Order: sequence, then structure tokens, then C-alpha cells
Amino acid sequence: MSDKNTTEKRIRKSYRFLIVICAIALIAGIIALYFGGPTEETSEIGDDPSENLESDINHSGFIEDEGVQTVINNCTTCHAAELVTQNKMTKEGWLATIRWMQESQNLWDLGDNEAIILNYLAKNYAPEDTGRRPALKDIEWYALK
Ligand code: HEC
Repeated sequence: MSDKNTTEKRIRKSYRFLIVICAIALIAGIIALYFGGPTEETSEIGDDPSENLESDINHSGFIEDEGVQTVINNCTTCHAAELVTQNKMTKEGWLATIRWMQESQNLWDLGDNEAIILNYLAKNYAPEDTGRRPALKDIEWYALK
């Protein structure tokens, strides 16, 4: 009789334990939903292809692609990656920037890495040419009277 009683007590105890665990899980779930909500919303907006690129950005702040390590090694010693990534230039533009840094900011000769860096930058940080209206052509200018 007393044996049966203690088993029943144990079962009831474990049920209570289960209920408490469930309640904690539920609360944790609600908290996670509440705080996790905004990030899920922003990722839904990412239909724009340029937004999707963000997911390829690695911990260094650079887009993950061939040559990224060479760029990290040579371009983050003096300034933050953001100074590079906030720019969008053609290959000529990037070369001019590198030459400018070499002439005035003590940037070293990049040697064989220069081509790797230029290819990487021109590919991943090119001027945006999508989602914009085409350039105006054949405009008939007229003199203001
Ligand atoms: C030896 C130091 C040094 C290294 C290495 C270096 N930079 Fe710079 N860079 C500078 C300095 C100094 C500035 C000017 C910072 C400022 O204006 O606050 C600068 C500015 C820039 C700018 C902004 C230019 C502008 O017109 O505002 C870009 C883009 C840039 N660097 C790209 C690069 C890239 C790409 C590399 C790798 C090839 C690189 N940097 C490596 C020193 C360096």
C-alpha cells in the first residue's frame, strides 16, 4: 500500500516536472519569437539580388569569393574593410585608388597579388548597373531664352 503510494507520488512528481519544463519551453519560445521576429522580417525583404549578396559576406566584412583572403591580407592593415567595401568602382577606378595609396599612403607594391585583388574588387564591388533606369541618350538640348 505504502509502496504503491510512493510510486504514485513519484509519477505525479515527474508529471509536475514535465509541466514545468513545458512551461519554460513555451516561455522561451515566445521570447525567441518576440526577439527573433524583426530579423526574420528583414530577411523576407531580401528579394533584391544585391541584398542576397549580404549573405555571402564573411566575418571580415568582405564578400566571400576567389581572392578574398589576398584582399584581407593587403587591404585591412591600414584601415577597416568598410572603407573598401563602401566603394563601388570599375577596375580602372580600383587601380587608380591603389596607385593613389601607393603614392601617398605608403601602400606597398602588391606584385602578383595586384591582379588578384583587382579582379576580386572589380567583380564584387563594381558600380551598380542593375535596377536603374538606362542612361539618357539622344537628348535634344535646347537653349533657354
Ligand atoms: C599602407 C596603408 C594602406 C593599405 C595597406 C591600404 N590602404 Fe587604402 N587607404 C589608406 C589610407 C591612409 C587611406 C585614407 C584613409 C582616410 O581618408 O581616412 C586609404 C583609403 C582607401 C580608400 C578610400 C579612398 C577614398 O577616395 O576615399 C579605399 C577605397 C581604399 N583605401 C582601398 C584599399 C584597398 C583596396 C587596399 C588593398 C589593395 C588598401 N586600401 C590598402 C592606406 C592604405
